[in-house]
Amino acid sequence: MSLSRIRNFCIIAHIDHGKSTLADRLIEYTGTVEIRKMKAQLLDSLDLERERGITIKLVPVRMSYKSKDGNEYILNLIDTPGHVDFTYEVSRSIASCEGALLVVDASQGVEAQTVANAYMAVDQGLEIIPVINKIDLPSAHPESVQKEIEEVVGIDADGAILASAKEGIGIQDILERIVAQVPAPEGDTEAPLQALIFDSVYNNYRGVICYVRVVNGTITAGQNVRFMVTGSSYQIEEVGVFRPLFEPVETLSAGEVGYVIANIKTVAEAHVGDTITDYEKPAVKQLPGYKKVKPVVFCGFYPVERDDYPQLRDALEKLTLNDSSITFEPESSEALGFGFRCGFLGLLHMDVAKERLHREFGVDLVATAPNVLYEITTKEGDIIEAHRPSDFPDISEIEEVREPIIRLTTFLPSEFVGKAMQLCQDKRGNYVSMDYLSPERVRLVYDLPLAEFILDFHDKLKSQTRGFASLDYDYRGYSAADLVRVDVLISGEAADAFSFICHKDAAFHRGQAVVRKLKELIPRQLFEVPIQASVGRRVIVRQNVKALRKDVLAKCYGGDISRKRKLLEKQKEGKKRMKQLGKVSIPQEAFLAFLKVD
Ligand code: GTP
Repeated sequence: MSLSRIRNFCIIAHIDHGKSTLADRLIEYTGTVEIRKMKAQLLDSLDLERERGITIKLVPVRMSYKSKDGNEYILNLIDTPGHVDFTYEVSRSIASCEGALLVVDASQGVEAQTVANAYMAVDQGLEIIPVINKIDLPSAHPESVQKEIEEVVGIDADGAILASAKEGIGIQDILERIVAQVPAPEGDTEAPLQALIFDSVYNNYRGVICYVRVVNGTITAGQNVRFMVTGSSYQIEEVGVFRPLFEPVETLSAGEVGYVIANIKTVAEAHVGDTITDYEKPAVKQLPGYKKVKPVVFCGFYPVERDDYPQLRDALEKLTLNDSSITFEPESSEALGFGFRCGFLGLLHMDVAKERLHREFGVDLVATAPNVLYEITTKEGDIIEAHRPSDFPDISEIEEVREPIIRLTTFLPSEFVGKAMQLCQDKRGNYVSMDYLSPERVRLVYDLPLAEFILDFHDKLKSQTRGFASLDYDYRGYSAADLVRVDVLISGEAADAFSFICHKDAAFHRGQAVVRKLKELIPRQLFEVPIQASVGRRVIVRQNVKALRKDVLAKCYGGDISRKRKLLEKQKEGKKRMKQLGKVSIPQEAFLAFLKVD
């Protein structure tokens, strides 16, 4: 295939602006999939994606299109996720394309991820074609959206295509514009092979399948290749294209997007961002890969039935085969037994992983509340990474604690600005900037500790702005903060599972809330049980679970007052002894009520 007849493009947009629906229409229009086999959101192949109506994984598909100029073109489309947790997927798709359709909802206008994704595409030098979608809606206002694209995103939207993915309006126009405006890929078919792995998935029957963009040279079944980063070599079993199901072809050459199967056992061997080259005639240089992403939100996954531990491990291993951005390592908890500490790119990512483990692997699990990764410098000058409260050294040994900070951009109607600012302040945010995109819409930027963000920020923002705010964030790095570990003591004994990290100023309130909740959850004993919250050795909150009182006077009909007193004295003595010796058994429900996310 001549390079001049290939177009590689992706669709980027804010969540729910209609990317997947638009992809459906393009696939339908080009006859890639027979109409009778079409179903809505064809490319969202995970059950979860269909149910929630969100795209989680990037999905490539190859279409053939006969243009008005009389030529037949190959269009490789990559549908990308819109949610901020999956930005990594978007960045990789962008790096495999020369053009991008920037889809903007005609009734909602430019939102936080529209800007973030568009900037990413501009940075990579992609040709951007703005598409204003959902013009069928009565609330559509395409002219002002067009102005917003120009002013906020900063690209020329003069020729923005007006479309309705739902009703199939503007589809041919989009295809023609892709052919005319997106540059054909550059590359040399004769040069040594260089193919960039932009994704890899695990298939039970075929092993690892690498999704590649061939930059130079050709790749054919039977060829011996070397992965330049890992250094391992393989013989190619099959190469093919996405239609959107896997369809083998003889050769993939420079400019093309397709897949490669080479008897690779684990996804770890097929690094996303690695370059595949020919074994005998290797390329001199590997292609620039991708920035490695690090998980930022952590939580513990524990099987509901303790016997299911091996099953959970197995499921996690399989899941990470498909999603290498998830990390996990074994940990154990007094309350929940053996489990794993897992790392994710964000809350939705965590939620999706939990749900996939349940659905695809049938594992029921308890997830502990999410937390972030802290950095601690001790008085001795050591640096510790703390995943959980128990990793924190004693307060007397700590020199400085640093926490991850995000820069949060929200787009919201101007009437809610006051509330949003108050919320950011309450969450220890630092004001960065505010500008009016129009008299009704505002862009507000704050720096915020990630720990506060993952607590409940998104829900609060949504409820305070009646769902109208959209947000995006990126990481700014670590910054020192006055953080302390609050321990919880039950009957004088530290109960590790309940300790938590928070800002010094919030310690009292949060401690109080925890103690109050525990008071409700711990059943009354025959002796009094004090529940305390402490920072270091200092107790900051205390409440008592009152003792059950057995009526020792019940059998004492009438009788002398001194006899009654004696009985009561004896009871008091007994309780004192019990208090010293008695151990409070904390019911499992108390732990679960505390540790569970939902
Ligand atoms: P993510 O993959 O989660 O980022 O969302 P998306 O951008 O792929 O959006 P999707 O295609 O799932 O569409 C979101 C919703 O908008 C769905 O309910 C669609 O039916 C609806 N929708 C998409 N295009 C149009 C359109 O042109 N008009 C109208 N009225 N609704 C549309």
